[in-house]
Order: sequence, then structure tokens, then C-alpha cells
Amino acid sequence: MTDQTVSLGVEGSNFNYPVLDGSVGPEVIDIRKLYGQTGMFTYDPGFTSTASCESAITYIDGEKGILLHRGYPIDQLAEHSSFMEVAYLLLHGELPSNKELNDFVYTISRHTMVHEQLATFFRGFRRDAHPMAIMCGVVGALSSFYHDSTDITDPEQRMIASHRLIAKMPTIAAMAFKYSIGQPFMYPQNSLSYTGNFLRMTFGVPAEPYEVNPVIERAMRRIFILHADHEQNASTSTVRLAGSSGANPFACIAAGIACLWGPAHGGANEAALNMLREIGRVDRIPEYIARAKDKNDPFRLMGFGHRVYKNFDPRAKVMKATADEVLKELGKSDPVLDVAKELEHIALNDEYFIEKKLYPNVDFYSGVILNAIGFPTDMFTALFAVARTVGWVAQWNEMIADPEQKIGRPRQLYVGATQRDYIPLDKR
Ligand code: CMC
Repeated sequence: MTDQTVSLGVEGSNFNYPVLDGSVGPEVIDIRKLYGQTGMFTYDPGFTSTASCESAITYIDGEKGILLHRGYPIDQLAEHSSFMEVAYLLLHGELPSNKELNDFVYTISRHTMVHEQLATFFRGFRRDAHPMAIMCGVVGALSSFYHDSTDITDPEQRMIASHRLIAKMPTIAAMAFKYSIGQPFMYPQNSLSYTGNFLRMTFGVPAEPYEVNPVIERAMRRIFILHADHEQNASTSTVRLAGSSGANPFACIAAGIACLWGPAHGGANEAALNMLREIGRVDRIPEYIARAKDKNDPFRLMGFGHRVYKNFDPRAKVMKATADEVLKELGKSDPVLDVAKELEHIALNDEYFIEKKLYPNVDFYSGVILNAIGFPTDMFTALFAVARTVGWVAQWNEMIADPEQKIGRPRQLYVGATQRDYIPLDKR
């Protein structure tokens, strides 16, 4: 807490509110007593000015384009660390020692398989079901298989559930893909890296050996690291809100998956790639730029803009370099990448986008990479969910352990009818 207070005058009375300061970032006015003292709420749809919790996991400075996990810059993590190191870092607060990392990798690998009966759940879905629909259902169903890790008051059970979720998500996402194309499920191969194992479960078949391409594995590792956490975004806030009622971790992560599915959040890379395909040719870009600027047209440039980053998205830089690397390795020239690069160039020099501080976000290039690797577009958000599970469980654990934690219960500005008497049906 700082010595500073903010005072608010209400009908002749003055109320002082303490100002809290974090380790870095804007100061925060503590308004917890506001309603009790003034009888008023604050109004902040979309929480654009509201901190919902205290957190020590991820820091973002949107103006400067900074993203830190436990203090470490995202570009350094994407360059040097494995996804398991980042997972450990997010969960435990520090980078692991060699032994800690080996133990963590071993523990996660012990949980990669899913209960054999879970496979029958998949058969209940239509073959053409969206993988996110399957993920919502199947991840929620995990709570019926792993009762021994649903007591959220026991820190050990919380950690076991966290390990299970991190370990099983790639298996479940790969199963969703295999189911949609009618191929047999692939069991995990624990000698492979987290991303190598995921690639094998997705693209391998039992009839043949599968060799993991190191360039693709590296790209997937980066994509997973770039998506691992992003402080109090919509899906993470959903996980926290669901968890605040004491719901079990599997149910909370299923809620996060549902929220992530939306095109304004995790669905944006799918939407961005579809848009780039629709544009199709560089000479059609001006038409789409004009539509994005037209107030009467709901069209938006997907993969552009961010609630928090108003300068550049540091994840987008790494993603762009990775797109070049993957396409070179695969010997593919993708017209969609040409459209993406030209669209970025034109938009970044256009007054509308400059003035509104709209820059490419992480999703602008990730779709191009995932498409080149061979993922169908409807798997993109499922991959995001696999990676973000690490952040979700870290944030969920932090919330449960926080003594200030309360059930999340926003207030409202009521604008509906005032009290009135019931009118019998025959009088209406
Ligand atoms: N194309 C054209 N105009 C845009 C765009 C866009 N992509 N994004 C924002 N604007 C305009 C918007 O019309 C508004 O204009 P005005 O002030 O004249 O009304 C202004 O910029 C501010 O937009 P906003 O919707 O108030 O901003 P927001 O912070 O609520 O929205 C956003 C952020 C990411 C939802 C939005 O930029 C968007 O819809 N982008 C496209 C979807 C997308 O790429 N989402 C992925 C986000 S990154 C992945 C993740 O972290 O989940």
C-alpha cells in the first residue's frame, strides 16, 4: 500500500480510498469499502479499469509491448526454454533447477494417458464436431474420472489435478483430431518432448513409425510458450470466476475452454486465417482495409488489435519469425503468408490503424504456421487451449491459495422495469 489516498466527494461527504501499488505497473485504487460507505457501485463493463485480483504470475505493459512471466521476458523464454520449464515457472514461481525440471517432466509424463473409458465419450460426438466442443465436454468429464484430485482444500490434490490437466490436454486435443478424421487414437510416447509427443499423437499412425521434425517441434514449442499465459484475459478470468465458487479444477478448465472458443479471444487465429484466405490476393487488400474502417460494416481485421497491447504485441514478433522458419523448412510458399505480410504493411501505414493503435496480435501469424504444419483450422483454438491450460492452472492455484479470495460476484447497473403487479394471462 502507498501513503497516497484518493478522495471521492459524495453529496457533501468526503471518502478516502487507499492506493495500492504492485511491484511494477499502474497503481490501483482500493474501492472495496465504496459500496458500504457511499451506497454506490462502480460501472466498468469489460473490466477496462478494474483489477479483479492480486497476481504474481504475469505482467503486461501494453503501451511498451512488454510481457513477463514471473519477471522473465516472453522473447527470452520463447528462445531458450522448454515448454515444461515455462509450465514449472508459471506454477511454482521460479525457473526449475535441473533436478526440479527432470522431476517435473517425469511427473507430467506419468499422467499423459487418459482413462481408457474416456475414449467412449468421444464416440458420442458427431464425426464433424468442432474439437472445442469435444474439449469442453471431455475436459469437464475428467472430474468424473479423477475424484481423488477434486478436493480443492487439499494443496496436494490441487497440484495433482494441475499435473493431470497439463499432461492430459495434448492427449485429449489429439484424440479430438483423430476422431474427426476417423483414425485410431495414438497413445502418448513419454520419451518425446511435450510438443513432440503432441505432434506424434496428432499426425502419427499406429501402422508406421513417426519421426518428429525438429523445426516443427521448435515452432510448436514456441507457439505453446507464447500462448501459455496472459494474465487476467477472458478465459483466465472465467477459470478464476468458476473456481471462486469452489468448483473442481476440471470443471473450471472446461469453463475456460468454453470462453476461449470465442472469435474475439482464442478463436481469432482461426478467424484470421479464414480472413486471409478470403482476401486471397494482395490486390484485394484495400477493399478489406476499407471495410475494416467503415463504421457501418461489422467487419474487423482479425488478428489485429488488442485490449491491452496498444503499441505492439511482443508475441507477434516471435510468431512472424517462426512463420518464416516453418515455411522455409517445409519448402512451402504460401500465398496466405504473402497476403498477411502485405496486409500488415498496409495497415501499419494507414492513419486509421495508427490512430487507434491497432497492430497485429499473436494470432495474426499463428494460423499461417499451424496451417503449414497441417492442422485444420478448427484445431487452432484447441491447440491454444492446450498451451493456456498451464496458465489457467497456475492462476487457479494462485487464487485458491489467496487468503483474500472471495466468490466472484460483480454488481450491475439495473435498467429494467421497476416493481409492478402481476397481470393475469386473460388481461394481457
Ligand atoms: N479491425 C478494425 N477496427 C478495429 C479492430 C480491428 N481488428 N479492433 C478494434 N478496432 C477499432 C474499433 O472499431 C474501435 O473503433 P471506435 O473507437 O471508432 O469505435 C476501436 O478500434 C477500439 O476497439 P474496441 O473493440 O473498443 O477495443 P477492445 O479493446 O474492446 O477490443 C479486440 C480488442 C482484440 C477484441 C479487438 O481489437 C478485435 O476484435 N480484434 C479482432 C479479433 C482478434 O484478433 N482477437 C485476438 C486478440 S489476441 C488473442 C488473445 O489474447 O486472446
